[in-house]
Amino acid sequence: MRVPLLDLKLQYAPLKAEILAAIEAVADSQTLVLGPQVEKLEAAVAAYTGAGHAIGVSSGTDAQLVLLMALGIGPGDAVITTPYTFFATAGCVERLGARIVFADIDPLTYNISVPALEEALAKTSRVKAIIPVHLFGCCADMQAITDLAAQHGVPVLEDAAQALGCAHPLGAAGAISEAGWYSFYPTKNLGAFGDAGMVTCRDAKLADRIRSLRNHGMEPRYYHHSVGGNFRLDAIQAAVLNIKLPHLDTWGAGRRAKAAYYRSAFHKHGLDCVLGLPTEPWAGTGVENHHIYNQFIIRAPKRDALRQFLSEAGIGSEIYYPLPLHLQECFQSLGYKTGDFPQAEKAAAETLALPVFPELTEAQQEYVVEKIGAFYALQPVGAAAH
Ligand SMILES: Cc1ncc(COP(=O)(O)O)c(C=O)c1O
Repeated sequence: MRVPLLDLKLQYAPLKAEILAAIEAVADSQTLVLGPQVEKLEAAVAAYTGAGHAIGVSSGTDAQLVLLMALGIGPGDAVITTPYTFFATAGCVERLGARIVFADIDPLTYNISVPALEEALAKTSRVKAIIPVHLFGCCADMQAITDLAAQHGVPVLEDAAQALGCAHPLGAAGAISEAGWYSFYPTKNLGAFGDAGMVTCRDAKLADRIRSLRNHGMEPRYYHHSVGGNFRLDAIQAAVLNIKLPHLDTWGAGRRAKAAYYRSAFHKHGLDCVLGLPTEPWAGTGVENHHIYNQFIIRAPKRDALRQFLSEAGIGSEIYYPLPLHLQECFQSLGYKTGDFPQAEKAAAETLALPVFPELTEAQQEYVVEKIGAFYALQPVGAAAH
């Protein structure tokens, strides 16, 4: 049996005719950049998330970049975020000449630790933004984070690249605080046919600035008020996303069901005493989409050997992320060293993403669990990895 980490062909097959018709309609219209499909998507995402404004852009990375540009974040400013995230979260800050300040993660949720954030806020001057990342499709502790931010008068910008469709008691991921962004990279729960992204924000003036900067600060044509970039979203991407968006909640529920199946199967095989399983901090708060499992992450003893064993058994897995950002070569000048963020470092060394997508079958999940059981039967370990 083969179990890929993700199989997008299975999602595409039932939507193929509709998607191809939508692409053909864009081709016939020859309105290829921005235009009505992008406006339709912006309105749909704003309505779906409850965000005041949504601005379609070329990628999740560009969404963050243009937002930070619109907020005027630059040299002399500091931005606090987590070192255990995709590179773009910190890369955008560095590209604008602002200083990245990392705060360690919570070991159970992998999201920014509130005590660590508090400490970073206390010892950093000129903090212009706090960026929690709703990692793997589950929200950070937004109540505590927004409370702390309010005490310090700092805006909270949500990296919801992995979390469109995820909810928190305070609202939809990416639309809880002043502003946020989503990625529609194909492996996200809502994936385009290439790169695409979206910025959301509360303030109408900020939305206008973002719209202008998305198109080189140009209004009218060839008259430039400020230096922006080409962050425009293609109509074909928006047309595909407009077809897929109505399915997002069903897909999210499907992923939650697969996560629940893993949980009970690991328990049945006694593996929940060996592995650290994902936590669901917002379950039981009355919010249905409290985790959308963009990734199902386990903590696994002998992680690298397990990954090799699974690969040989035809099972896909991935390490998100093998080297925390404070130890990346390009951030050496920030002066961080090994040991500075022990929880991020431990997570990088121990975690593994297993296949999770709505079309995954029970037989495939049983096979994954059985193979993990076989691995630990061969290489017994004592306690849980948490
Ligand atoms: C947490 C996080 N932030 C930002 C991004 C950047 O999004 P994109 O790949 O669309 O530029 C990603 C995408 O992988 C992500 O996972």
